[in-house]
Amino acid sequence: MLEMKEVVVQYESGADPAVRDLTLSFEQGEFVCVLGRSGAGKSTFIRTINGLQPQTSGQITVLGCELKKMSQKKQRSMRREIGMIFQHFHLIPRLTVEQNVFTGRFGHKPAWKNFLGLFSDEEKSLTDYYLNEVGLLEYKNRRVERLSGGQKQRVGIARAMVQRPSILLGDEPVASLDPTTADYIFQILRQLHEEKELLTVINVHDIELARKYATRIIGLKQGHLVFDGSPGQLSDHHLKQIYE
Ligand SMILES: Nc1ncnc2c1ncn2[C@@H]1O[C@H](COP(=O)(O)OP(=O)(O)OP(=O)(O)O)[C@@H](O)[C@H]1O
Ligand SMILES: [Mg+2]
Repeated sequence: MLEMKEVVVQYESGADPAVRDLTLSFEQGEFVCVLGRSGAGKSTFIRTINGLQPQTSGQITVLGCELKKMSQKKQRSMRREIGMIFQHFHLIPRLTVEQNVFTGRFGHKPAWKNFLGLFSDEEKSLTDYYLNEVGLLEYKNRRVERLSGGQKQRVGIARAMVQRPSILLGDEPVASLDPTTADYIFQILRQLHEEKELLTVINVHDIELARKYATRIIGLKQGHLVFDGSPGQLSDHHLKQIYE
């Protein structure tokens, strides 16, 4: 479903690569958590998968198509297959919950329809469906600026899901939240993951969350892959390798 072959990402020529020689393959149904110290290359890794950060060398194949060889049109359609959630939510504070979730549909239609706020009945019921899934249906007309952090992230999840993605990526989606809320967000992510048979890849600082929810854990250190295995295989020795 997603393959990386000898992928290197270097921000500036001469600088140390942020991601070095990564060869990995991910299948539908995997819930992958990416661990690593600050600066290990976790965000770079996620951003490279969805094409936000170009790779310097190597190959990335998403759903059978090589990222580098795609036409712009194909890249746009590929982006629709990849939903993304962010640490700082990236929502529009003055718009309502529903309007924010609608923006997840923007890649699916011409810009003028988005501009005029034209959404089909199907899109409206899709939005309701996911707002219900994340427990926010009754908040749909509330402005996002009046929500808590955990509620905002649930809007972020609903927005990513109305895209109907095959792959869901998260760059530290719970790093700004308290532990109980973070756990709740992971419960929602895991449930959607199972219902929709996604490939989910999420960066997380909290080792316990990774152990509890991941089916597979990836450890990065200075851009290198230093661990790849199940939560049960992640020993203290591996953690030392990742974090020291
Ligand atoms: N836009 C950029 N320009 C130049 N260098 C960058 C840029 N973004 C990241 N880097 C460098 O690439 C390396 C990896 O950074 P990255 O943000 O991927 O790490 P991270 O694991 O996500 O860290 P954190 O846990 O702090 O978010 C770091 O050395 C960082 O300084
Ligand atoms: Mg990061």
